[in-house]
Amino acid sequence: MVLKRTRFAVVDKSPVARIIEARKSRHLDICLEEDVASTLDTGFGRVRLRHEALPECALEDVETAIEFLGHRLAAPLVISSMTGGTERARAINDNLAIAAQAAGVALALGSQRAALEDVALLPTYRVRDVAPNVVLFANIGAVQLNYGVTVDDTRRIVESIGANALYLHLNPLQEALQPRGDTNFRSLLPRIAAVCRALDVPVIAKSVGSGISVRTAARLLDAGVAAIDIAGAGGTSWARVEGRRAGDPTREALAETFADWGYPTAEATEALRLAIPHAVIVASGGIRTGVEIAKAIAVGANVAAAGLPFLEPATRSAEAVSETIDVMIAGYRIALFVSGCRNASDLPGARYSRGSDATVTVVPSSATSKASTVV
Ligand SMILES: Cc1cc2nc3c(=O)[nH]c(=O)nc-3n(C[C@H](O)[C@H](O)[C@H](O)COP(=O)(O)O)c2cc1C
Repeated sequence: MVLKRTRFAVVDKSPVARIIEARKSRHLDICLEEDVASTLDTGFGRVRLRHEALPECALEDVETAIEFLGHRLAAPLVISSMTGGTERARAINDNLAIAAQAAGVALALGSQRAALEDVALLPTYRVRDVAPNVVLFANIGAVQLNYGVTVDDTRRIVESIGANALYLHLNPLQEALQPRGDTNFRSLLPRIAAVCRALDVPVIAKSVGSGISVRTAARLLDAGVAAIDIAGAGGTSWARVEGRRAGDPTREALAETFADWGYPTAEATEALRLAIPHAVIVASGGIRTGVEIAKAIAVGANVAAAGLPFLEPATRSAEAVSETIDVMIAGYRIALFVSGCRNASDLPGARYSRGSDATVTVVPSSATSKASTVV
């Protein structure tokens, strides 16, 4: 598939581009107006961090910055892939990009398939015009490699927006629930490996709200993928989104049977960290607060990502997105402070389980041993 540059000025869109545009627009409406949450929870409610009553540092001593795939982020946060391909999406992407750059967090764009189908839609992804320095990730569905998208196309979508990495999303459930979805996932792994070999930027593999098993993550990493974004269950359910979009009670009922499908984000993140200690992991799917970012890192993530919480603010303004980011980062900073952590690398050691304090041996100091009772 070749980008048809001559079509920049052409008003008529290709039929496929029209279909994609209509679909992306419906996705925005549904995610903004309806309940699309998974009926599973993320599992972060069962992860506890210790409370440190004597942190022995000031709140401002806490270091929130981290490094992710060679880029410094002011906090371990990526705005997840959401949109592109429509005028409304362009405004949303601009607001997300301006706010992400201001906060020093990363932004992933929505699937760029629409721009491959019709280059006239490319500006809806070109956020470097408004945020030249934002850490930016491109996005395309991996299954499109079986539907005409070439390795050169993946290079083009990266270069056309000046991206720092490429997200390949893996969405078999979503495709299977869509009318005429792209369900041929045969022999994709070698094609993913070819993309990883050809690109000058890292490739990140992600799910879209169902998670990624350890076995699949291992195969993807072997294929050359640089990082795994869990995009687990507990947040936006794409089964539910596609069910709502179907506009047909039978299809919606079918989709609803998958509303609790997938690996909860916390569990999948922890399992992957235990199985593959060196893996670079993005925890996403249902991350809504700074406390959950801290918990995600405590169970093994390098960085966290979230989509839906930023969508509605992005329909209003960059300032509204900035406020949402700032609240999350403030919560993350406070969570580190009150769990006695100076930075992200302290977090795995701050996990707490009922009774875990009982294993700590209290050795009386000379001062306490002089006291009549030691509690
Ligand atoms: C409106 C909307 C559009 C999305 N479009 C894409 C997409 O184009 N590509 C992709 O990889 N993920 C897409 N996603 C999935 C998100 O990147 C993310 O994996 C998922 O929503 C789970 O995260 P959350 O619970 O924080 O929303 C979209 C999500 C939303 C809410």
